[in-house]
Amino acid sequence: MRSNIALIGFMGTGKSAAGTMLAERLGKRFVETDALVEERAGKPIGRIFAEGGEGSFRVIEKGVIKDVSAMDGLVISCGGGAVLDIENVEALRSRSVVVLLKASPRAIMERIARGDARPLLGNRYSLEDVKRLLDSRTRAYESAADFAIDTTGLDVGTVVDIMIEKVGK
Ligand code: S3P
Repeated sequence: MRSNIALIGFMGTGKSAAGTMLAERLGKRFVETDALVEERAGKPIGRIFAEGGEGSFRVIEKGVIKDVSAMDGLVISCGGGAVLDIENVEALRSRSVVVLLKASPRAIMERIARGDARPLLGNRYSLEDVKRLLDSRTRAYESAADFAIDTTGLDVGTVVDIMIEKVGK
């Protein structure tokens, strides 16, 4: 039985917001791989990237994914690059229904502009940068997921309703 729900997808597609509400509604525990990586490293993601590069971030992320994948009853919000590694996908899929959250590049731009620093895109990025990175990841996202929801223009409650309907209670 897969008792976890893993949310995957690009930065700014609403994984944290929808995951928090989904966990509350299903009585599951919400965990975020980014937060667990920061906890494990003892420093924020920006500093992990700045000091050890993306590679060092991915090593810690992989350990976190392995550990949460072995647990039950979780809603797991995964960092946007987590499922680019096939071993992470296999680990997640062993006990999690994997849900891909999508959004248009423009919606993503608007949402991440409001959020905290995204070291992968740097401080200044264009719509074209978002499109390029999103395009390069689309295939990996689609093939890792059981199903996808386009969150563009939807409020969080609606996204959660759709997830609950698809996953079942
Ligand atoms: C990343 C997305 C970030 C974080 C890191 C790398 C990515 O997570 O894991 O900055 O490769 O897309 P969010 O998707 O939660 O922003």
